Amino acid sequence: MSKRYTITAALPYTNGPIHIGHLAGVYVPADIYARYLRMRGKDVLFICGSDEHGVAISMKAKKEGISPKEVIDKYHNIIKNSFDVFGISFDYYGRTSSEMHRETAQEFFRTMHDKDCFETQTTEQLYDAKEDQFLADRYVVGTCPKCNNPEAYGDQCESCGSSLNATDLIKPKSALSGESPSLKTTTHWYLPLDRYEDFLRSWILESHKSDWKTNVLGQVKSWIDDGLKPRAVTRDLSWGIPVPVAGGENKVLYVWFDAPIGYISATKEWAAKEGKDWKPYWQDKNTELVHFIGKDNIVFHCIIFPSVLKAMGNYILPENVPANEFLNLEGQKLSTSKNWAVWLHEYLEDFPEKQDVLRYVLTANAPETKDNDFTWSDFQTRNNSELVAIFGNFINRVMVLMQKYYDGIVPAPNAYTEADEATLAELAAAPNKIAQLIEQYKFRAACQEMIQLARLGNKYLADEEPWKLIKTNPNRVATIIHTALQVAAGLAITSEPFLPHTAQKLRNMLQLDGNLGWDNVSTLPLLRTGQQLGDSTLLFEKVEENAISMQMTKLTT
Ligand code: MF3
Ligand code: ZN
Repeated sequence: MSKRYTITAALPYTNGPIHIGHLAGVYVPADIYARYLRMRGKDVLFICGSDEHGVAISMKAKKEGISPKEVIDKYHNIIKNSFDVFGISFDYYGRTSSEMHRETAQEFFRTMHDKDCFETQTTEQLYDAKEDQFLADRYVVGTCPKCNNPEAYGDQCESCGSSLNATDLIKPKSALSGESPSLKTTTHWYLPLDRYEDFLRSWILESHKSDWKTNVLGQVKSWIDDGLKPRAVTRDLSWGIPVPVAGGENKVLYVWFDAPIGYISATKEWAAKEGKDWKPYWQDKNTELVHFIGKDNIVFHCIIFPSVLKAMGNYILPENVPANEFLNLEGQKLSTSKNWAVWLHEYLEDFPEKQDVLRYVLTANAPETKDNDFTWSDFQTRNNSELVAIFGNFINRVMVLMQKYYDGIVPAPNAYTEADEATLAELAAAPNKIAQLIEQYKFRAACQEMIQLARLGNKYLADEEPWKLIKTNPNRVATIIHTALQVAAGLAITSEPFLPHTAQKLRNMLQLDGNLGWDNVSTLPLLRTGQQLGDSTLLFEKVEENAISMQMTKLTT
């Protein structure tokens, strides 16, 4: 494993709050990965921020009758705060409206311009005469030429994932006026992606053919096989970063040109604040760069941004881009505009202190290899029969027995039986199993391995029945409780990437030495004989029927 990791999570557009689809696809897996690597003592930089340019923002402003600046401030604050309360452990959360970002993005553009990395093309573009506005990206909607989806955008079809030019759309309509657009001539800078075909083929389809996810490789291959075409990186819009070269008056950078550079400008801001050097995180070959994204972002992170980094020279390329599929909600596609979503900030109000339940459900059912469905009834079942009945129950039983028999002081073990040895061996093997799965981005399976430890503890107690032996064989009971406590301590450590709030509570309950971490679980014991434990609290509570029906009502009314 490398020493240094730069982990990025897709910058959310500040045109609406965060919902469970974003969390399941991007932020929860990224956070598990970052927390895990920190526990392994790696130098981790986990970066995110707000994506504040582009048509998504200006459209929202128009709809709400406020300025784009008001829109981005409003949602930047809602999103940043909800991530905070939820416990996504970003080292820095930037925003692309910052001065540092403008400078950095303009420097990328200027450097590439001076190195002749762009072509200019003068073409006829869709134009809304009524609104006096060129129509690009989300300003224009039409039928996708690839899959016939009638609601494709000017830059991308969200149905089939194709990357489009506005003029590719069949029967285009202005999203502003609803009118059929006319054509008007304009000049733009293009990134000639065709020049990068050989590089992309050998870097992704050859070098990474066995370590990248098949869904990602498949999309990349189909784009390349379709033939990569020059892609405009400037727009005739007013909201965005001004094009910093002659001829760029009244034009801005394409949002997908500036946004990924936001990872770098956020790193610079973080480094300035921490008194560090930003460069190793983006330019040292020993750094592993990993982009967490949803599948609709694959082309930008696997084709366009790497081509930009390559053109700049001296930047590292992503080691992996573990893109996820989509999460649906109660059988239907999540939709911000149709308000078919579970919003993070609302969840946190309705279920305060239940951050880890949502994290758990989204991880256990993560759309890693195919689209998956979130249902409130599954939420309830996973909480009640997994977190409460397995994890919580095990911890509760050990803690109660501990207090009752030993006043909370860890008893000394006596001779170990085969069952004890087997249990301790399984505990010692767990961190490595979980680690290997996390390192392969198999977070669902990793999380199940962690829960498996709680199952192990429950089974051990059920088999050994210390409550039946306390009168007749107290020496044996001391060994059983000592052993069960080690499993509990192992859970306090291995659950941290997945359930950070729970792990912290459990650490406090066990008064676990703060220096003990991931690598100590396989070299037991974690709790010493004679050590005093803390007070026991409930880790999880049942979710009742009325809470679920309230959520269903909220969704459907
Ligand atoms: N805002 C984009 C989206 O929500 C993601 C931007 S990722 C970045 O789809 F790399 F461009 F920052
Ligand atoms: Zn399509």
